[in-house]
Amino acid sequence: MYEKIVILDFGGQYAHLIASRIRREQVLAEIHQPDEVDLAFLESKNIKGIILSGGPQSVYDEGSAHCDPKIFNLGKPVLGICYGHQYMNQSLGGKVVPGHEKGKEFGRADLTHDNKCPLFKNIPTTSPFWMSHGDEVETMGNGFKGCGDTSLCMNAAAWHPEKKLFGIQFHPEVTHSEHGNQLLKNFLDICVVSRDWTIEKFYEEHQAKLKAEVGDRNIVLFVSGGVDSTVAFALLSKVLGPERVQGLFVDNGLLRQGEREYVEKAIKAIGTKLTVMDEADRFIGNLKGVHNPEEKRKIIGNTFIDVQKAFFAHNDLDKNTVLAQGTIYPDTIETGGTKNADTIKTHHNRVPEIQKMIDAGLVIEPLADLYKDEVRALGELMGLPHELVWRHPFPGPGLGVRILCAKKTTEDIFEQDVNAFKLQRNKKPFEILPLKSVGVQGDFRTYKHPGLITVDETDLGALEVLATKLINHYTDINRCVKILGHNYIGRVNSTKVIQSDVNNERVERLQRADHIVTTTMHKMGVYNDVWQFPVVLAPLSFNNTGKESIILRPIDSIDAMSATVGKLSWAFLNEVSTQILKDKSISAVFLDVTSKPPGTIEWE
Ligand code: XMP
Repeated sequence: MYEKIVILDFGGQYAHLIASRIRREQVLAEIHQPDEVDLAFLESKNIKGIILSGGPQSVYDEGSAHCDPKIFNLGKPVLGICYGHQYMNQSLGGKVVPGHEKGKEFGRADLTHDNKCPLFKNIPTTSPFWMSHGDEVETMGNGFKGCGDTSLCMNAAAWHPEKKLFGIQFHPEVTHSEHGNQLLKNFLDICVVSRDWTIEKFYEEHQAKLKAEVGDRNIVLFVSGGVDSTVAFALLSKVLGPERVQGLFVDNGLLRQGEREYVEKAIKAIGTKLTVMDEADRFIGNLKGVHNPEEKRKIIGNTFIDVQKAFFAHNDLDKNTVLAQGTIYPDTIETGGTKNADTIKTHHNRVPEIQKMIDAGLVIEPLADLYKDEVRALGELMGLPHELVWRHPFPGPGLGVRILCAKKTTEDIFEQDVNAFKLQRNKKPFEILPLKSVGVQGDFRTYKHPGLITVDETDLGALEVLATKLINHYTDINRCVKILGHNYIGRVNSTKVIQSDVNNERVERLQRADHIVTTTMHKMGVYNDVWQFPVVLAPLSFNNTGKESIILRPIDSIDAMSATVGKLSWAFLNEVSTQILKDKSISAVFLDVTSKPPGTIEWE
């Protein structure tokens, strides 16, 4: 029996990420619900330590997520992260309070520790960690000592030396916490747990599990050409035999330029069955007149289901055929897939119709426990072509989450309220753009304006730091952009959001800009320098030039759970912007300089 670490999931979007980090240290990690886990189970000898995850609630709210406080007396090391830190301190006599405006932190913060706590072994005294919280520990629990602070957060780290209890306000599990892995390794050392669990072993065990789960049923799998569905397709083909796995590729009219041809060629090269279905008109037709991002997602998801139902109705499939999906961990977590989580957004693999099928045991998700980097490792292990395995991820709803829509054309805000605007310009280093996009702050989904940074700064790292500061301070924005180029002349005297929905004209407009970005990345040899590069179309027009704006969103990430801005050269950015602006229907080109959190990767 493996020794292991148990993670109690208080509903934070990062709960499963902690498990993935621990597993990468070759230690088995299991996730359990805090209010359901049995104390006797936690006493088992092979459980060497407990981690309490973050969560979206406030520990002092009635009915907020809780566990049996006796876990703090089991004699096993406990690490509380964010909500877990606050919960542990409150349970042991401390006090948690809402952070005043200054106490809320999202994104990078510099932590200074006192070099005494073993959790910080081999970690520089001052180092950057990722923060995402609104509350803070005002008074520590009995027996706790403070051992780390940031400029905005008191008691950002505390420990109880005798009981081996550790609490931290920040998130060591996100990849952008530079020394986060070291901190988790230190905790594993404190737990004295064996490191004998590997991804190869997981793969071996998973094959048997998958075989048992599928039984003698056949599989239908909708492939997109992205790494997730391709690896799922290859894995199922390997485990069950290619004749039992039917691949279906739906052209939903929201694809990149040339994508359909690419996928046909690539999937057929894996040597298995593939049918291409042209459903572009149906998807685009269903999106007519729709503006709300969540509604767009639901419609795209439901149209997939309709396409699927139509396929089953017209194809004489064996009754024993189940649907497989290439869903991965973040897709399930960010939809409120865990019990205590707030809905960050609805993933198209988790719309209600699919959820019903999942509950009825009719959906197989062979990658649902894995993160993107693990899916890639698995793909490599199975010998898939490198180029396929390392393609940038592309979301299931495709360009549908990159085409922002507007219900009505807005009044010109600059003309309408010139005085307010002037005041704002004098006071703030940014201007608020009138449209809204999706973001994530704390464990909550936000829908706010982008701030257009107006200060003269060209260092992308510095811009990203500035964006974090601005978003932490000003509550009406959730991301920041910098202008790269424009088709208007002189100063901006009018900004309009133009009424728009998803239609073929706009899809093609975005496809052209996206194609310029992808081909220029390949041409300038920088494709592998970023993890993903969404190109976004926003119905934003300046000085009545063009109808739209383009936003470039280069991303550095490992697993999409946290992200920083992909630091591409200005030569590249300017080249791309110049080429995009040759299209006179584009008014301006922007660069998104926001990390995740507080911004999400997609704009929606
Ligand atoms: P966000 O915008 O949540 O995106 O920061 C995280 C990652 O997920 C991708 N994404 C999706 N992938 N179906 C997918 O298969 C979806 O509905 C979906 N929405 C976002 C996004 O491209 C990024 O890599």
